[in-house]
Amino acid sequence: MTPLPFPLTEVTEAEAETGRRLFAGETDFLKGVVAMSGLPPDDRIEVCFAGRSNVGKSTLINALTGRKGLARASNTPGRTQEINFFTLAESHYLVDLPGYGYANAPVAVVEKWQRLLKQYLSGRANLRRAFVLIDARHGVKAVDEEILGLLDSAAVTFQCVLTKADKVKAAERERILDQVRGKLSKHPAAFPEIIQTSSEKGDGIATLRAVIANIA
Ligand code: GTP
Ligand code: MG
Repeated sequence: MTPLPFPLTEVTEAEAETGRRLFAGETDFLKGVVAMSGLPPDDRIEVCFAGRSNVGKSTLINALTGRKGLARASNTPGRTQEINFFTLAESHYLVDLPGYGYANAPVAVVEKWQRLLKQYLSGRANLRRAFVLIDARHGVKAVDEEILGLLDSAAVTFQCVLTKADKVKAAERERILDQVRGKLSKHPAAFPEIIQTSSEKGDGIATLRAVIANIA
C-alpha cells in the first residue's frame, strides 16, 4: 500500500511531554513590529503563524499558550496589523502575522502589511518553521499559493495547519484534506505532515505544542 502523502501528524508521549513542558513556561507579548528594522534580535528559535485573514492565527496562539487574551483575536478580518512577537519560556518566539487576502482595508495599508509580511517570511534567519493556517472549510486558495511559493523560494519549511476543524463534518473535512494534500505536493518547502486543529474544542493543540517543542 502506498503511504498516504501528507498524513496528519502524530506525536509520541515523550514528544507531547516536551510540548507540555515548553508551553508551561511563561509567555508574554514582547512587541508589535511595523518594519524589518524593529525585529527583535534573532537569538531564539522562532516559529510564525501565517494565513488568510480570519483563519484563526491569533486564536491559535491563545489556545497554544492557554491565555485567552494574549493575541488579539476578532471576528473582524484584518485584526492583526503588525508582526506581533510573543516570548515563550526563555527559548522561543511565537510570531503572529497579519493576515493576507483581506481586501477591505485601504489599498495603501494592505500593501504596507503585505510587503512587510513578505520581507519577514523570506528574510528571518532564525525562523525555523512557518505554520501556514488553512481554514478546514475552505482549503488552499489562490492567495495561499502565493505565500507558499514565496516560502519555497526563501527555502523556509512550512507546515500546514487546518483550523476550525469543529466547523466541518468529517466527510467534508476529508475532501478538503485531499485538496490540501494535492496542493502541498507541488511545494518543495512543505513539511510532509498536516496538523488539524480546533482552537474552540482544543483538538490538535497538544500536537502542535509538541511539534513546536521538538523542532531541533
Ligand atoms: P487576522 O488577524 O485578521 O488575520 O485574523 P486571525 O487569523 O488572527 O483570526 P482570529 O484568530 O482573529 O479568528 C477569527 C475568528 O475565527 C474569531 O471570531 C475566532 O473566534 C474564530 N475562530 C478561530 N479559531 C477557531 C476555531 O478553531 N473554531 C471556531 N469555531 N472558531 C474559530
Ligand atoms: Mg490575528
